[in-house]
Amino acid sequence: MGTEAGEIHRGLKGVYFDTSEASFIDGSLGKLLYRGYNIHDLAEQSTFEEVTYLLLYGHLPTERELETLDSSLRDNRGLPEEVVDIIRLIKNCHPMDVLRTGISALSAFDPEAEDKSIDATRRKGIRLTSQAVSIVTAHHRIRQGLEPVNADPSLNHAGNFLYMLTGQKPMDQETNLMDVDFILHSEHGSNASAFAARVTASTLSDLHSAVVTGVGTLKGPLHGGAAESVMKMAQDIGDPANAENYARTTIENGERIMGFGHRVYRAEDPRARHLRERARVLGEQKGEPHWFQILMSLQEVMKPYQNKGIYVNVDFFAGAVYHLLGIPEDLFIPIFALGRIPGWTLQCMEQYENNVLIRPLTQYTGEMDLEYIAIDKRE
Ligand code: ACO
Repeated sequence: MGTEAGEIHRGLKGVYFDTSEASFIDGSLGKLLYRGYNIHDLAEQSTFEEVTYLLLYGHLPTERELETLDSSLRDNRGLPEEVVDIIRLIKNCHPMDVLRTGISALSAFDPEAEDKSIDATRRKGIRLTSQAVSIVTAHHRIRQGLEPVNADPSLNHAGNFLYMLTGQKPMDQETNLMDVDFILHSEHGSNASAFAARVTASTLSDLHSAVVTGVGTLKGPLHGGAAESVMKMAQDIGDPANAENYARTTIENGERIMGFGHRVYRAEDPRARHLRERARVLGEQKGEPHWFQILMSLQEVMKPYQNKGIYVNVDFFAGAVYHLLGIPEDLFIPIFALGRIPGWTLQCMEQYENNVLIRPLTQYTGEMDLEYIAIDKRE
């Protein structure tokens, strides 16, 4: 029996909990703006470094401002040896667990770890954006019995991610793909991980703690884990002709098709388009066009569900793109996290700037006023 009155919004669906200048989403039109700029313009014309600046400073940078941000990113591509040692100790964990632990460990070496001022939070966010790439790539090398690769100052952020992962200089097209992917993942309103990060910041805890919260929340298959699940699903389907049967059986069993549906979008996720065409081209170049064909068949057979507002989301084509770039499946969620650090940082800055403790209610539905019975009298 509940004793507290009040309307319940399970999953906080449709609830506004604060204002934000980070991103605008119109779910019915499939429109996404970062700080007022359309995601399509940013994906086609900008760079991840520029978008990071835009998110953290609120305006597009001049060349000089971009150079300053770029050099901060470059200066922080190394990791303290102690953090590399921790990565070695836990090398058999899932890369998201290693990322979460690595970020937590980095707070011990950050000179501003406890400084919650806006400027220090922004600086820490920039450092973490770089250092997180180093954690994920160092771990991937170490678990293969290889040594981490030092960053190459001639490469940009996305290029360094691929270089530090494989030890080989990426092709321009591969760097561009990763760059676009990081842009598309860098901010997305009050999604579960950003909200969780804000809850942590709202207790006036520090940025490292908030980013650790974000990483832990992103890990789940209903959020960041979808790209990994999409690729597994494509492997299960195996052939474009099997897509219809797969979709019908999955939905009849009450399960969900990964990479479809979104809490906010009731139209196609605007980020999906930038990966769809790139997945097709890359698939043909790599001699593996069937992944794209399987995904397109699935998209076709899911058309009837569009009247329920179920369309592809950003993760649908991301998995195929990563696979075609030769990236193993368990790195798909960490890649999402690497892109999202500027967004989490911005949202924590917003929280600190106008803080209120985030503390909703649950309506109690358990028993009331039970009699306490001593343990030796219980049956
Ligand atoms: N496949 C089949 N049916 C679906 C799907 C799907 N992927 N998504 C939603 N539905 C159905 C639900 O079963 C429900 O049907 P019903 O009304 O008959 O019960 C209806 O659509 C509405 O779904 P909700 O549960 O209200 O949607 P919600 O907002 O809670 O969930 C979510 C959104 C979690 C993303 C969901 O669509 C899902 O599980 N998708 C698959 C996982 C995925 O791709 N996640 C990535 C999201 S994007 C991101 O985090 C970057």
